[in-house]
Amino acid sequence: MGSELLWHVTMSLDGFIAGPGHTMDWMPRSAEPSVIADELIATTGALLVGRRTYEVEERDRGGFYGGAWTGPFFVLTHDAPAKVPEWMTGTFVDERIDRAVARASDAAGGNNVVVFGADVARQCIDGGLLDEIVVHLAPVLLGNGVRLFDAPNRVDLENMGIAQSGQLTDLRFRVVKEPRSSLKERSPR
Ligand SMILES: NC(=O)c1ccc[n+]([C@@H]2O[C@H](COP(=O)([O-])OP(=O)(O)OC[C@H]3O[C@@H](n4cnc5c(N)ncnc54)[C@H](OP(=O)(O)O)[C@@H]3O)[C@@H](O)[C@H]2O)c1
Repeated sequence: MGSELLWHVTMSLDGFIAGPGHTMDWMPRSAEPSVIADELIATTGALLVGRRTYEVEERDRGGFYGGAWTGPFFVLTHDAPAKVPEWMTGTFVDERIDRAVARASDAAGGNNVVVFGADVARQCIDGGLLDEIVVHLAPVLLGNGVRLFDAPNRVDLENMGIAQSGQLTDLRFRVVKEPRSSLKERSPR
């Protein structure tokens, strides 16, 4: 199997991935290892990130995966900032989602591509590009914020497994689509 496109996200019990004002202080800073998260990060070759996610990472943590990500990444934006922080070693791109995915897939060198940001993930789903969703369910009710999936269309998923890591419940789903094919085969060149 070639490179796959995965959405890796932590979600509140009421379905938000960020609180009001893009607050992220509700995310558990647990030292408990997550087998699913560790495996996912180990098999990831590149990140595809929305501009709003980039801005929150810059504000709160100075990089992806708490600053631990050192591989290639691509930030989708229509308006790349002139001034960027030192940790910003990735590339700003203004492209159609399928082209951005193909570019990240090339950079991933056969490993998977992980998507960050609900808007970008929704585009990947709409475009039939997303293969899996890995959700860490957090024990909190946020009441408002950025919803996991804000779209009128239904998407069927196949449950791939569940695990517990500290306070988080790890859920893994495959996006049901036909015919199933690898990222590289689907993406236009
Ligand atoms: N809980 C978690 O695990 C988790 C993980 C990741 C992110 N988050 C949170 O989710 C929130 C951000 O998600 P979001 O859905 O609001 O936004 P997002 O997906 O991060 O970013 C959306 C932005 O990306 C740019 N963009 C998207 N598609 C594009 C395209 N095809 N071409 C060019 N630019 C494109 C646009 O930026 P411009 O307006 O600059 O053009 C758009 O406004 C943040 O609060 C973040 O902290 C949570």
